[in-house]
Amino acid sequence: MSQVSADAVTLDFLKEARETVRTSPLGVIRTPMIPWSRTTLPPSAGCSVQLKLENMQRTGSFKIRGVANQFARRPRGGRFVTVSAGNYGKSFAFASKHYGSKGKVVMPETAPESRAVLIQSFGVEVERVPTSSLMTAVNRCVQDDNMTFLHSFDDLDLIAGHASLGLELLEEAPDPDVVVVCCGGGGLLAGVAAAIKLSGCDKTRIYGVEPEGACTMYKSFIEKKPVGMDVKSIAAGLAPPFAGRLPFELCQRYVEQIVLVSDDEMKAAVSALYGAGLVVEPSGSATFAALLHGRIPDLEGREVVCVLSGGNIGKDELADFPD
Ligand SMILES: Cc1ncc(COP(=O)(O)O)c(C=O)c1O
Repeated sequence: MSQVSADAVTLDFLKEARETVRTSPLGVIRTPMIPWSRTTLPPSAGCSVQLKLENMQRTGSFKIRGVANQFARRPRGGRFVTVSAGNYGKSFAFASKHYGSKGKVVMPETAPESRAVLIQSFGVEVERVPTSSLMTAVNRCVQDDNMTFLHSFDDLDLIAGHASLGLELLEEAPDPDVVVVCCGGGGLLAGVAAAIKLSGCDKTRIYGVEPEGACTMYKSFIEKKPVGMDVKSIAAGLAPPFAGRLPFELCQRYVEQIVLVSDDEMKAAVSALYGAGLVVEPSGSATFAALLHGRIPDLEGREVVCVLSGGNIGKDELADFPD
């Protein structure tokens, strides 16, 4: 876990990471930002909404941004281990193959077999263990196999890489009134919020969105320290059992408020986005759900940017969602 303080995150540091991400051999793309234009389904009366389409990012989610910066700052051909059942694992595996690193992903036994197969297809080893033994397995890899642990949300370089999304969106919406970003461990929200505030957008209100059943950052804000909880949500990417320490510090500094959405609201948002031609997974749709269900205050006449963070969802899963 990261021991650095939020003071380490300066605008120069984020700009350098952005350049690393932009020129990364992993082929991170500048994702499009498009206006939500469906008149039949206004996400909120009287505001303009721009969607930042990270569901179209390489590997299907924003995670590759942070991974690109993490790998660029670690020795080439290193030996890395991580814990992930989802999008971070996919980006980690993609980068490991590119950089010729020996990689291992420790995964909960409950994760879908298809995820393990996908990660293995990049030449990365997968170890499936009970959820309670995840960190024991990682510690063994670090101690016995001399591997370096890469954290999937509580890592300075990862957060700085994610911040590239914030700097990028400001090039198209230079002074947005409201930016809405989803939150799991908090790496994405922390990076984007730091990028926007450190760029001088003092008036921009940045909202984090979490599932009701996995609201670790929300609880951390109340308790004024990063806390954990028993989590349950269809949005697996937003449901790690604790909030990251560095993400928490940065979010406390730069984020206005954390708002909550239910699983049903995220399902409805997935369907609404699909109806508009956008394939977005439940974690990625939480922000849109928050807009659709009026969770963000004072939107009348505002310019809003809504980040859709990932699109890794299969046809079968989509078929279970409401029309
Ligand atoms: C699609 C998607 N959105 C958001 C998140 C949350 O990211 P973070 O843990 O950095 O808050 C994840 C994490 O896996 C994800 O896969």
